[in-house]
Amino acid sequence: CGIVGYIGHRDAYPVVLKGLQRLEYRGYDSAGIALFDEGELKLCKTKGKVSDLKEKMESTVDTSGHVGLGHTRWATHGEPNDLNSHPHYSNSGDLVIIHNGIIENYDSLKKELKTRGYTFKSETDTEVLVNLIEDVIRKEDVKLGKAVQIALNQTVGAYAIAVFDKKKPDEIVVARLGSPLAIGIGEDEFFVASDASPFIEFTNNAIYLEDGEMAVVRRNKQVKIRKIKDDSLVDPYVHELQMNLEQIEKGGFEHFMLKEIYEQPDAISDTYRGRMLPDKGIIRMAGVDDNIERISNARRILIVACGTSWHAGLVAEYIFEDFARIPVEVEYASEFRYRNPVISENDVVIAISQSGETADTMAAIKLAKEKGAFVFGVCNVVGSSISRETHAGAYTHAGPEIGVASTKAFTTQITVLTLMALKLAKHKGTISTSDFQFYLQEMERIPEKVKLALNSDEHIQKVADIYKEATNCLYLGRGYNFPVALEGALKLKEISYIHAEGYPAAEMKHGPIALIDEQMPVVVIATKKGHYEKVVSNIQEIKSRKGKIIAVVTDGDIEVRELADHIIEVPETIESLTPLLTTIPLQLLSYHIAVMLGKNVDQPRNLAKSVTVE
Ligand code: G6P
Repeated sequence: CGIVGYIGHRDAYPVVLKGLQRLEYRGYDSAGIALFDEGELKLCKTKGKVSDLKEKMESTVDTSGHVGLGHTRWATHGEPNDLNSHPHYSNSGDLVIIHNGIIENYDSLKKELKTRGYTFKSETDTEVLVNLIEDVIRKEDVKLGKAVQIALNQTVGAYAIAVFDKKKPDEIVVARLGSPLAIGIGEDEFFVASDASPFIEFTNNAIYLEDGEMAVVRRNKQVKIRKIKDDSLVDPYVHELQMNLEQIEKGGFEHFMLKEIYEQPDAISDTYRGRMLPDKGIIRMAGVDDNIERISNARRILIVACGTSWHAGLVAEYIFEDFARIPVEVEYASEFRYRNPVISENDVVIAISQSGETADTMAAIKLAKEKGAFVFGVCNVVGSSISRETHAGAYTHAGPEIGVASTKAFTTQITVLTLMALKLAKHKGTISTSDFQFYLQEMERIPEKVKLALNSDEHIQKVADIYKEATNCLYLGRGYNFPVALEGALKLKEISYIHAEGYPAAEMKHGPIALIDEQMPVVVIATKKGHYEKVVSNIQEIKSRKGKIIAVVTDGDIEVRELADHIIEVPETIESLTPLLTTIPLQLLSYHIAVMLGKNVDQPRNLAKSVTVE
């Protein structure tokens, strides 16, 4: 979910509405806004997107007011209907709340509140929390900030909340545990939001609350931050934001996803710029340099991540083992956290996350730290929770990724992890100086090669047109390109809702081959480097069962061209870097199919970009 709040001299409605649009990547099942004006609270909420809310709001509510709270929801408790949408009111109608997260003990709290006469209109945990706060105010006769604190100390779960009391119209109380919350500081005005994008055109100054902190944001006053547990005051650290408005707009592209696919040449070079110094034969990465002994002496590396980041982790497994000769295991963070894993001080855990906020990945990091492991983060969002929780890390510097289906985050994660593996290999002496030098030089050519891969866009569009009606699709790859096959299948599923499976090409014969008939499109990554002959045999097996073959091949390939129904060429590179090129056509293929099917590419159904609940 995404939350936005404003208190100041401007009209709150346009600020909150625009903010919600920018946060829609965090969920778009329902949306709502509450405004406060001249003693009156006005609320509008609806199932659906922020655009639906805008229409409803402007035709039913007077949108004036200088205080506002807004919410865009990714449903957890209760289906996404108008009633379950946020903001939620307390029984008296005085308090209004927006909440991102889950209150796990809401059921017992609800029962207790019911015995005291409270009634509930929705099925949400949030309505329970706002009434709990009201109950504390009533019983203990305390101010809003104190009441929020007392109530939160009775909850179990995760939250980022903003609460407003119409009897105290000069303040908004915010708190965080597990879900992100930023406070934008303007001149006599404040913004609160799940990330800084809603207020980027108004201020460059932001405070990021840490877990377990709360703040009272008071008009014309300084923000006071306290620890929720013991009420101690915390010195606020004001960050200077690096994001700019242009980065979070579409810049002439029809969708964010397409823009982000096309940004990859620049994103990759931004990732290695300043780190790779081929002339000097070195890679500089502060997070690795400072901990080089610890990392290179690791007994093993454990990679934890979710979704696309997990696929980047799988590519990294090949790279680390290949170059640095350190054993690697890759785990879904959500499984790792609950299976009592065997970890010790000799392990290094690498957590990969675009958003740096994924709840499961965060929990895995905490567990690994408890067990004494050294935890290294690979995040895109600067200052994100994961980047702060880890011992050290490296940013991907891909710039904001807005499209829910991850694209440039994936290729830049692979870039960072490649640099890290090469650096460790050099330190350990598992790579020769000439190979090291050669890899760095080749890495520098990758952005140009990605551009060449993007040149196939029109051709890929034609292929997409042929297969857009498919109901199933198989993706095959081997070695470094096996995770790319998984990622290609995930992209297709996510945005076109066509069922797709990724498999290691050789495993096909142990099951998926049964699915192949003349209707079945099979996307095969068959680049020259990396088990080429073996993959060609796999292609033969598909062909003899009449499957339709779409092959991603190296420029100038002859053999596969003879066998495949369609070929998509990518430039040649060394094997370990092929994922950076072979991923591109798969991203474009899924993009075009989804557009042709009329799907909402940037906001696919049921998904959210940043999943801050487990
Ligand atoms: C969500 C997104 C995916 C993403 C995954 C992990 O499911 O829709 O695109 O790969 O979360 O996110 P992270 O921010 O941790 O990389």
